[in-house]
Amino acid sequence: MSAAPPILSVRDLRVEFPTADRHATVKAVDGVSFDIRRGETFGLIGESGSGKTTIGRAVVHLARASGGQILHDGVDAATLSGDAFRKARRHWQIVFQDPNAALNPRMTILESVQEPLNIIGETTMVERRRVAVEALERVGLSLEIGARYPHQLSGGQKQRVVIARTLTMQPDFIVCDEVVAALDMSIRGDVLNLFAELQRELGLTYLFITHDLSVVSHISDRIAVAYLGRLVEMGPAEQVTEAPLHPYTRALLSAEPIALPSRLREARRIILQGEIPSPIDPPSGCHFRTRCPHARDMCAASAPQWRELTTGHWVACHFANADGSMTKECKNGEVLS
Ligand SMILES: Nc1ncnc2c1ncn2[C@@H]1O[C@H](COP(=O)(O)OP(=O)(O)OP(=O)(O)O)[C@@H](O)[C@H]1O
Ligand code: SF4
Ligand SMILES: [Mg+2]
Repeated sequence: MSAAPPILSVRDLRVEFPTADRHATVKAVDGVSFDIRRGETFGLIGESGSGKTTIGRAVVHLARASGGQILHDGVDAATLSGDAFRKARRHWQIVFQDPNAALNPRMTILESVQEPLNIIGETTMVERRRVAVEALERVGLSLEIGARYPHQLSGGQKQRVVIARTLTMQPDFIVCDEVVAALDMSIRGDVLNLFAELQRELGLTYLFITHDLSVVSHISDRIAVAYLGRLVEMGPAEQVTEAPLHPYTRALLSAEPIALPSRLREARRIILQGEIPSPIDPPSGCHFRTRCPHARDMCAASAPQWRELTTGHWVACHFANADGSMTKECKNGEVLS
């Protein structure tokens, strides 16, 4: 019996945008491949501008891929007819950082939760209301809150409302893009627990995008690290956070200011030098070479291969070794351990 295909397979995904003057191209996503298994939480980290949101938007078809393939349960979304695509797409949802942007200030909470069902218009008003009330209850909000308006709710309650709205679509895959970043520290844990609870109860799969390493290391099964539109490392969460293989991941972990246990930091703090380069004109070869303490000629000459150094732990660096060390010498293009 063959294994079920991953819920999401992304192959060599590219997303490009024209610059404002239309004279150049922003390579926001520059050849990214990964699979997400049904029921897992796949964390995606990286600095601002590394392409995380664009990857998230592309896999739920809110951003148009310029190249590559996006398969849901083994089916290429590009091959679906308009109607089949619209029906399938309901089950692929995205939740953003700012709940205010998702909620209409003139609608009651219950109306907002019910709105996507109204747009689809397949069921009776009574049924839509029943589904909306059930979704509110599932995220821990009462019917009394359903009668209020967004400005009468706290940030955490509003994010729960957005989650309830998403649940009415019976999603099986949700991109969570910085979903707790705008919330007070004191309630972030509650909202993260809600995501975990919903995952257990409903069998959801998450692509969890965040700047916050402490969040991602707690909730993810696997983690991918993005840099300037490409993935540089991917593997089981514990391996990526405790035994990172890529110099960029190591720098990110050591630069994390708070909340990471000391065992997750390097003894010698690595400071990331300089700004992330422009995705309009990224460095040749390895995109990280302008900030990498280990960079040498080969790094400018060729892009590193995406290599599986230990089972399930992938890295894109010419000189990274499976034990976390870096190959020291490179003579005439020959790499010596
Ligand atoms: N609609 C767009 N038009 C032009 N450029 C865009 C557009 N969306 C994103 N970009 C550019 O693509 C690159 C990746 O942006 P993206 O928002 O995906 O990064 P991110 O990793 O999510 O960053 P952050 O952590 O700040 O949210 C950036 O250089 C950004 O300016
Ligand atoms: S390929 Fe070169 S520049 Fe890129 S991470 Fe590895 S050592 Fe650094
Ligand atoms: Mg983003």
